[in-house]
Amino acid sequence: MPTNYPTKEFIKMLPKAELHLHLEGTLEPELKLKLARRNKITIGQETIEEVQKSYQFDSLSSFLNVYYPAMNVLQTEEDFYELAWEYLKKAKEHNVRHVEVFFDPQAHTSRGVSFEKMFSGYYRAIQDSSSLGISANLIMCFLRDMSAESAMETFEQALPYKDKIVGIGLDSDERDNPPSKFFDVFKRAKEEGFYITMHCDIDQENSIEHIRQALFDAKVERLDHGTNIVENPDLVKYIKENNIGLTCCPVSNSFVVEDMKGKEIIELLEQGVKVTVNSDDPAYFQSYISDDLYALAENYSLTTEQVIQLVKNSFAIAWISEEEKEKYIQSIDEYVKTFNKLKVI
Ligand code: ADE
Ligand code: ZN
Repeated sequence: MPTNYPTKEFIKMLPKAELHLHLEGTLEPELKLKLARRNKITIGQETIEEVQKSYQFDSLSSFLNVYYPAMNVLQTEEDFYELAWEYLKKAKEHNVRHVEVFFDPQAHTSRGVSFEKMFSGYYRAIQDSSSLGISANLIMCFLRDMSAESAMETFEQALPYKDKIVGIGLDSDERDNPPSKFFDVFKRAKEEGFYITMHCDIDQENSIEHIRQALFDAKVERLDHGTNIVENPDLVKYIKENNIGLTCCPVSNSFVVEDMKGKEIIELLEQGVKVTVNSDDPAYFQSYISDDLYALAENYSLTTEQVIQLVKNSFAIAWISEEEKEKYIQSIDEYVKTFNKLKVI
């Protein structure tokens, strides 16, 4: 048995950054029930088991059909705070040192919750994250199955909070909703100085064309998922040369396309692309970031060095200063040295 396979314990305590996490995807059944009771909202489920049973999906659209209605329990500023705070506490358990988390304003404003209420709850939790030793930033996403006008309206609503949001993303159902639909609003986002990222979900119709539009027309700094890029060597060369990383989510993939896409992730890693591993919607896929890393390592026999490279990549493509990147990457080296001394890898 080779000794070079990383253990669960080694992975869990590795310092890491999470770059692909939807705050709304961290709604655990316990919190959903608590908020439903507090806000007197009928959700059709009474127990944790019943909520868990409703978390069944086998595609992106069947997942989204469960995901959006669940958000009805989020009503007050305190609810948004609690959702984000519970996630940050979980992240600490997995030794996440830096997070850049997505939030979906339109999923709330479209059901009558104000932008201000939602944002101030999330932002308060983000500010409190320093007490956990975590640095945190917010990425606002547009729902691509809503109109370009609605995205622009949301962008305008966010402008007063500009200095509290690090980047702008694009998520939800990709089918028939290419990046080109949102070029105007992403152009404005670039002009305002935001970082840009976009979901290029797994095995979508026109995946490569969507990736091409995201890279060359919207000029993203990262791609969320995006592993279909492996099919096109020229695009792979481009992201490598331009230091554009991918935020991959193997366990999420295993739900929506029944394949972690580990082969593609490893191929890209071996080609020197900055691929990272993240949890996407951990409450729904029952997998937090270390679980994702371990699932990938176990199923594809990753070496310890490959796991270390994945977490180093997460800091390398984070939207933080070069000094901060250096500091976090050094902390990984120190952690590995200590582990080696204890011979527990
Ligand atoms: N919203 C939450 N999770 C998502 C995913 N995996 N793809 C697109 N939109 C999402
Ligand atoms: Zn996602």
